[in-house]
Amino acid sequence: MTHSVLSPQSHPSRSASRRHLLHSLQAVDAIERSEQPAVAVEHDPNAALISATGVYKSYRKGKLIIPVLKGVDFAIQPGEFVAIVGQSGSGKSTLLHLLGTLDEADAGEIHFEGNRIDNLPSKAKDVLRNKYFGMIFQFYHLLPELSTLENVLVPSMIGQGILGYWWSRHHHVRRATELLEMVGLGHRLTHKPKELSGGEMQRAAIARALVSAPQLLLADEPTGNLDRQSGTEVMRMLRCLNREQNLTIIMVTHDSTIAGMADRTVRLVEGLVERVG
Ligand SMILES: Nc1ncnc2c1ncn2[C@@H]1O[C@H](COP(=O)(O)OP(=O)(O)OP(=O)(O)O)[C@@H](O)[C@H]1O
Ligand SMILES: [Mg+2]
Repeated sequence: MTHSVLSPQSHPSRSASRRHLLHSLQAVDAIERSEQPAVAVEHDPNAALISATGVYKSYRKGKLIIPVLKGVDFAIQPGEFVAIVGQSGSGKSTLLHLLGTLDEADAGEIHFEGNRIDNLPSKAKDVLRNKYFGMIFQFYHLLPELSTLENVLVPSMIGQGILGYWWSRHHHVRRATELLEMVGLGHRLTHKPKELSGGEMQRAAIARALVSAPQLLLADEPTGNLDRQSGTEVMRMLRCLNREQNLTIIMVTHDSTIAGMADRTVRLVEGLVERVG
């Protein structure tokens, strides 16, 4: 973990916020030390890898308030692979962003390995996301100026810092290249996102999400732009990572066949989570 944010500062008014940040980073350290149970226990928030409790989220558009999540309770155990389904606009991406600490709920709590994470300072959230979470966004969010390979390397550069990255760059480049080969993009390493098809961008985003060897993968429609065969291949790959590397996966999808490949499915209906199967 990068502790550079805790480097000594002389400004006395910053000491309180530094203590707060230290406390939060200690929470991240606690997450790092804790061990996962070998057997997943279903629907037990106390044993959950990540959980949402009583989460509310509304968006404000001018005078209009759009309630999206209305008290969501959701928990996923270590090693589980859960699909989230629901109508367009039901709040699937919103929930995923809240779990990934990319957005803040109006009320409720998010816990990761028993530690509350939704109230961490933004630097601690950055560390958490970089080290433990892999995210596949619905609209990829690849950086347009960078090549496919460079896009996949970005989390390593952020996580290691420029010097750390530079010293071990061969290792990082090898890992990123292997991941791109795994998703069938070994021949597109130097292409920029605008030179890739939708499905290729999606696969590059999958490789980027996996490069830091995360504990939890938050995947928003990871097969949404793939044809049936490529979608099934991506699902096989995710299943394999889930089974062989114990990668916990929360995946949003609108495709019932794809959802059927997860361990269980939950549905977002009228701002609440319902169990499907
Ligand atoms: N930044 C925002 N400002 C205002 N409203 C928003 C914002 N983001 C999302 N919404 C609204 O919140 C609701 C839930 O959006 P969300 O993206 O979570 O839905 P979704 O279930 O992921 O839909 P889809 O299946 O189409 O991706 C939608 O009605 C959307 O219009
Ligand atoms: Mg969405």
